Amino acid sequence: MPGTVIIGSQWGDEGKGKVTDFYGETADLVVRYQGGNNAGHTVVVGDRKMKFHLLPSGIMRAKHVFIGAGVVIDPRVLKKELENLEKIGKEVHLTIDPRAHIIFPWHNLEDGAQENEHGGEKIGTTGRGIGPAYADKCYRTGIRFEDLINEKRLKQKVEKVYPFKKKLLEKTFGVKIKETADEIFNQYNELGKEFLQYVGDVSLEVNEALDSGKNVMFEGAQGTFLDNDFGTYPYVTSSHPISGGVATGVGMAINKISRIIGIVKAYTTRVGEGPFPTELTGRVGDDLREKGQEYGTTTGRPRRVGWLDIPLLRTSMRLNGFTEIALTKLDVLSGFEKLKVAISYSHSGKTFDYFPYSMRSVEKAQVQYREFEGFTLSGKEKKFKDLPKSAQNYIKFIEEKMGVPIKLVSLGPERSQTILVD
Ligand code: GDP
Ligand code: IMO
Ligand code: MG
Repeated sequence: MPGTVIIGSQWGDEGKGKVTDFYGETADLVVRYQGGNNAGHTVVVGDRKMKFHLLPSGIMRAKHVFIGAGVVIDPRVLKKELENLEKIGKEVHLTIDPRAHIIFPWHNLEDGAQENEHGGEKIGTTGRGIGPAYADKCYRTGIRFEDLINEKRLKQKVEKVYPFKKKLLEKTFGVKIKETADEIFNQYNELGKEFLQYVGDVSLEVNEALDSGKNVMFEGAQGTFLDNDFGTYPYVTSSHPISGGVATGVGMAINKISRIIGIVKAYTTRVGEGPFPTELTGRVGDDLREKGQEYGTTTGRPRRVGWLDIPLLRTSMRLNGFTEIALTKLDVLSGFEKLKVAISYSHSGKTFDYFPYSMRSVEKAQVQYREFEGFTLSGKEKKFKDLPKSAQNYIKFIEEKMGVPIKLVSLGPERSQTILVD
């Protein structure tokens, strides 16, 4: 059975956790392929709210979860997440690719130091060391999961990297690294011993599962416009959240994926800095933030909020090849008298129905909006036809502009607050 991918179509936090959990009911395997614990995916089951940063949120349902080579792993966070699952009696069947890179304390420090160097032009990272860990991977100086679980190799690697990082942090950035090389080695060696049981060739196992007809889901982290190449650079993350990232992040061929689900939040949000053409900074924005509880799952920062952006979504469609859409948080728009949707951008006398491709054009562009009648939901809607007409129109408009069916409409964080559209 070809695989299914869950992709954030905007700037992250679209509700990937909820949708992964929802569809995860039928998944045999759920796989993370990029990013690290910068992600924050929420799953609500009854009274329980679980937040996953590193483990696939599909773990609540799937039989077996995987962390692929393209992920950067902070073993301190992995330990905490595994402990949280143990507390609720959840059995974990996990495989981690030996090629995945490891986040060390110096990466966190470098992340913060780089941000301070940017002065007034911070990226607004999550501070989790993600960028520096990916940078070391590209420099070919990174330490991988296969090193973490091998005492001798770990010692050699830490002893080699530590003096360089200490010099960099202290001499260039003026930041003190408080742990000694031995302390870091000891802490990570303990973690490595604990995690030795999880090592396995994720590329091989996932390919075999796909070939034998298993249902495999790939859980994207972040969102399309945080992609290192195609996002709003430099205000992006350091990995490739778009659907093409699955192939390189897991080690598989692109033709093994047939279902690509784009998660679209019914409005737009972004955490951190960077352009956001439909941003609402006044009272309507504040209302939307409060109603949607738009506060970062990882850092707790208030999320910036704005109207839905069709050119952005059409670009996302092009970059990912969505075969269907899951529309989330429609309930948050309930009660607004009027809704606005960006339908085009213009600059230098030309109109575009795609998101501008260069940062300069984004800065210069004007946004054209279309106004929609608002709607009020009762909370009892179970089918598409139960939704008020104006809500149906809003949904149909998105569907028409994106050119693919909306197969799921989410009206709340819980599994039961979900409409499947025929
Ligand atoms: P992710 O990073 O894409 O997994 O999204 P987050 O978990 O960071 O943020 C989405 C938030 O919205 C979480 O608190 C979810 O529980 C919540 N959520 C998901 N779907 C819905 C929905 O349809 N309506 C409402 N009101 N909340 C939702
Ligand atoms: P999920 O998976 C929203 C943002 C940060 C910052 C930029 C770079 O929950 O959707 P990084 O720490 O990755 O170097 O920060 O990317 N960012 C996210 N925004 N959701 C996320 O993940 C994000 N992960 C990173 O806020 O702007
Ligand atoms: Mg999130």
